[in-house]
Amino acid sequence: MPGRCADVSLPGSPVTPDWLALREPADAAARASDLADRLSGWLRHRAGDAPIVVRDLGCGTGSMGRWLAGRLPGPQHWLLHDRDPDLVDRAVHTLPAGITAEPQVGDLTTLDAAQLAGTTVVTASALLDLLTADEVERLAAACATAGCATLLALSVTGSVLLTPTDPFDSAFAAAFDAHQRRTIDGRRLLGPDAAPAAAAAFGRHGVAVVRAPSPWRLGADDVPLLEQWLRGWLAAACEHRPSLVPEAPSYLRRRLADAARGELRVVVGHADLLALPAGDPS
Ligand SMILES: C[S@@+](CC[C@H](N)C(=O)[O-])C[C@H]1O[C@@H](n2cnc3c(N)ncnc32)[C@H](O)[C@@H]1O
Repeated sequence: MPGRCADVSLPGSPVTPDWLALREPADAAARASDLADRLSGWLRHRAGDAPIVVRDLGCGTGSMGRWLAGRLPGPQHWLLHDRDPDLVDRAVHTLPAGITAEPQVGDLTTLDAAQLAGTTVVTASALLDLLTADEVERLAAACATAGCATLLALSVTGSVLLTPTDPFDSAFAAAFDAHQRRTIDGRRLLGPDAAPAAAAAFGRHGVAVVRAPSPWRLGADDVPLLEQWLRGWLAAACEHRPSLVPEAPSYLRRRLADAARGELRVVVGHADLLALPAGDPS
């Protein structure tokens, strides 16, 4: 395939249960728990004892539910949205005990305020950068109109710092970022522009937004994830910029050797965002 690195394999699809399982501990360590605490405080000031209703958009196998449910107060009912029925099925069966959950299989970008009626919290993790500007605008409008609190975790920022440095780091990083912003089937993905776009969209609806950094910090304890991430990162960069293909195999060999010696450290920038409806009591 043009643009593919000769011996650098792009995982068939990054959204496989294996990939999600591999990244789950790093995601859990990275998410901004202070935003979850702030959301929890907001929920504690709500009137009534009815279970809170949480929609997890792009739930995958349920990583966000496993991380967030225990941080929120009281009884909870989760609606798990994903277009992949196999992932939703796994998610429904692995939320913490005491949480009720139901599957919502389909395209989440069509959700509107009427469908969000009765929802207390909309959340998502590692989703926003896969959406377009129009889709983020509609999502923010729907959440604002329905009066939901919204916690959007782990949107890529485009910042990638590798230690030790290598002369080709910046070329691969720039090509990867461009790939994140690519157009697929007429949809231009936001990639690293997602978090600022979402914050601006909520702001246009008068909803206060708090942002927090949530970088992956990978090192000697994360070699399997580092290796898989490196392969996907390089394959995406090469797909976008085929002139990098000849350099990729030796770059990968150097980086895998760094990782095997326990010397490779990578900080992958992410941002979390919490939007609370007017009257934020926390
Ligand atoms: C990177 S995965 C993240 C999964 C999970 N939130 C996590 O943190 O492990 C993104 C998920 O969003 C889902 N997804 C992406 N775009 C979607 C859309 N338009 N409608 C429904 N699901 C979508 C994918 O199927 C995938 O499961």
